Amino acid sequence: FLVEKGNHHHFMAKEIYEQPEVVGHTLTHYVDMANGVARLPFETPFDWKDLSRLSVSACGTAYYAGLTAKYWFEKLARLPVEIDVASEFRYREAPLPANGLALFVSQSGETADTLACLRYARQEGQHIMSVVNVPTSTIARESDVVAPTLAGPEIGVASTKAFTCQLTALAGLAIAAARARGTLTAEQEAAYVQELIALPGLMAQALTLESEIEKLARKLSRARDVLYLGRGTAFPLALEGALKLKEISYIHAEGYPAGELKHGPIALIDEDMPVIVIAPHDALFEKTASNMQEVAARGGRIILITDAKGAAEAGVVPEATIIMPEMDPLFAPIVYAVPIQMIAYQTAVFMGKDVDQPRNLAKSVTVE
Ligand code: G6P
Repeated sequence: FLVEKGNHHHFMAKEIYEQPEVVGHTLTHYVDMANGVARLPFETPFDWKDLSRLSVSACGTAYYAGLTAKYWFEKLARLPVEIDVASEFRYREAPLPANGLALFVSQSGETADTLACLRYARQEGQHIMSVVNVPTSTIARESDVVAPTLAGPEIGVASTKAFTCQLTALAGLAIAAARARGTLTAEQEAAYVQELIALPGLMAQALTLESEIEKLARKLSRARDVLYLGRGTAFPLALEGALKLKEISYIHAEGYPAGELKHGPIALIDEDMPVIVIAPHDALFEKTASNMQEVAARGGRIILITDAKGAAEAGVVPEATIIMPEMDPLFAPIVYAVPIQMIAYQTAVFMGKDVDQPRNLAKSVTVE
């Protein structure tokens, strides 16, 4: 098949802009729009109530989607979650419990390490579920149940729309699991489902921040290193932000949980170091704000991604603030992914890098 770039200069830009639409498509599989409740596009061959543990493995961006889902499954469904990168999990000889569910997240469904984990989990008697974008892939075929993402073909090597669709599917799964396990009331379920339904509109709003992000990208293009900080579900997004930037701009970037700042990365802070803080105004905001003050006290350049409330309560004067729409902080990473992707994209474009085909990287890693 032929996939065209349309009006965009790169596939990556096209795929970033497609997100409201493909997240909307993906949602229709996890949400009964008419009744405002969660639903799953498959029958589960297990009872969610009987599950003892969820073990997640994946690589790259898909791993960060899985790491975000850990917060959702633990909080909403009270299900213990273990997660590891596939290349570690496959050789760890991890003991897996009776009635365990193993979950694999993969855009291509062909990543060698992830597939090896699936086969290990199968041998250890786990139920096997996968979140995949390619329904005919090996991982999909070898799973007991497939939770589809409907991102459509992703051409840019750096994953964008597949990531937000994975998050959407995982959020839907977590809500459905919580309902089945009796850890959410019908009212709570309805409220969370409304938050999911609002996602495409919020993502479309986030896309309007492009010109602001372009200005920011010009400044970032002169940085040698960039630090990304976040807490809670903003932490996996900090990792993803750093991955995206290093992959396509070749600027060294690291993502860190904001609370770990003083255990290491604070030593690197000086007036040349941009620190991108991802902090929706949630229950942890005050803690992250105090980390920002620590950065500011050392002359670090803060770029704050938050909402209006967060901007008002930051207690520092950032070099730049990206103001996001108000939303439930739990699913905010799905929307905050948009500026994170645009920052990496615009920086790389400004530096003249080949964003769709970054050096040394492959779209799908089918060998070890
Ligand atoms: C490669 C790609 C990444 C992707 C990772 C996992 O590294 O460049 O974008 O996240 O593989 O791929 P998968 O197809 O399993 O999601």
